[in-house]
Amino acid sequence: MNPTTPPALPTSVTTSAPPSPRYSSLSDQPWYLPMGDEVEVFEAAYSARLPVLLKGPTGCGKTRFVEYMAWRLFRQADTPRRSLEVPLVTVACHEDLTATDLVGRYLLSNDATVWRDGPLTGAVRSGAICYLDEVVEARKDTTVVIHALTDHRRVLPIDKTGELLDAHPDFLLVVSYNPGYQSALKDMKPSTRQRFVALDFDYPPPAQEAAIIAHESGAEPAIAQALAAIGLKVRHLHEHGLDDGVGTRALVHAGKLIQGGIDSRRACDVAIARALTEDADVRRAITDVCDVLLP
Ligand SMILES: Nc1ncnc2c1ncn2[C@@H]1O[C@H](COP(=O)(O)OP(=O)(O)OP(=O)(O)O)[C@@H](O)[C@H]1O
Ligand SMILES: [Mg+2]
Repeated sequence: MNPTTPPALPTSVTTSAPPSPRYSSLSDQPWYLPMGDEVEVFEAAYSARLPVLLKGPTGCGKTRFVEYMAWRLFRQADTPRRSLEVPLVTVACHEDLTATDLVGRYLLSNDATVWRDGPLTGAVRSGAICYLDEVVEARKDTTVVIHALTDHRRVLPIDKTGELLDAHPDFLLVVSYNPGYQSALKDMKPSTRQRFVALDFDYPPPAQEAAIIAHESGAEPAIAQALAAIGLKVRHLHEHGLDDGVGTRALVHAGKLIQGGIDSRRACDVAIARALTEDADVRRAITDVCDVLLP
C-alpha cells in the first residue's frame, strides 16, 4: 500500500488559554524503537476504542510512543483520519489543572461572551487522540469528565453549557502516570485505572538504549554504548540514595553535548550527574561510573 501524500499541515497551533496544550500535526514520522508488543497492543486498543494508560519513569519513551502511534493511526494508515489536521492534543497535567481547563470556558470578547472549547473538548469533537500527561496531578474534578469518556458512554459532560457531547468515533483518550512519583493520596483510584488498558514502560535494555542514543544524538556507536552502560549502572545506585533512575532522555542529552564538542566527562557531569541530584556523594558515585565506562 502506498499512502498518498498528506495535506499541508500547520506545524503547531498556539493558544493563550490555560493549560497550554500542545497540538501536533505529525506531518513527519516520529522515530520510535519498539521494546515489545506495545505497538500491536495500542493498535488493538485503538480498534476497540479502549483508552490507554502508559505507566513508567521519566524519559523512557512514553510521549514519543504516543506521537508515533498517532502518526501510524492518522498519517500512515490509508484512512479518512488522514484529513484531520491535528491528530494529537497533549496536555501536561499539574495540581492546579481543573476540569474547566480541559473542557472549556466562557470568555469575554468585544463585550460578548463566547464559549471556548478546552483542549479535551476539541479532541472529543474532532476525533483526535488526547494525551493527558501525568494525569493524577490534575484536580479531582477532572475524574468525572474522564470517567464519562472512558466507559461505554463515551460522552463528555460540559457542565457550563449543559451539553453532553458524544465523542467522535475516532477519539481516544490516552493518559500517563508515573507510579513512583505519587504519594498514596495522589494514586490513581481503581475505578479510574480499570477503565484503561495499561502498558508498562521501562528503561530500554542496553543494546536498544544505545541504538536510541545514537539515533537521537548522532553520537558514535562507542559513545552511545558507553552512555547506555552508564545509564544501567546509575540505575543501580538506589542504595546510594538516588530515588529516580536516569532516563534515556538525559543520556541522549549527554550524547548531544558530546556531539557538540563538549568533553565526554563534562557532558555526563552536566547532563546526568547534576541533572539527577544535589547530593555530592551520589554525584561522585555517578562521576566514578562515568570515569570507568567512558572510552
Ligand atoms: N523507544 C524509544 N524510541 C525512540 N526514542 C526514545 C525511546 N525511548 C526514549 N526515547 C528518547 O528519549 C526521549 C525521552 O522520551 P519521552 O519524552 O518519550 O519520555 P517520557 O516517558 O514521555 O518522559 P516523561 O514522563 O518525563 O514525560 C525521547 O525524546 C527520545 O529521544
Ligand atoms: Mg512525556
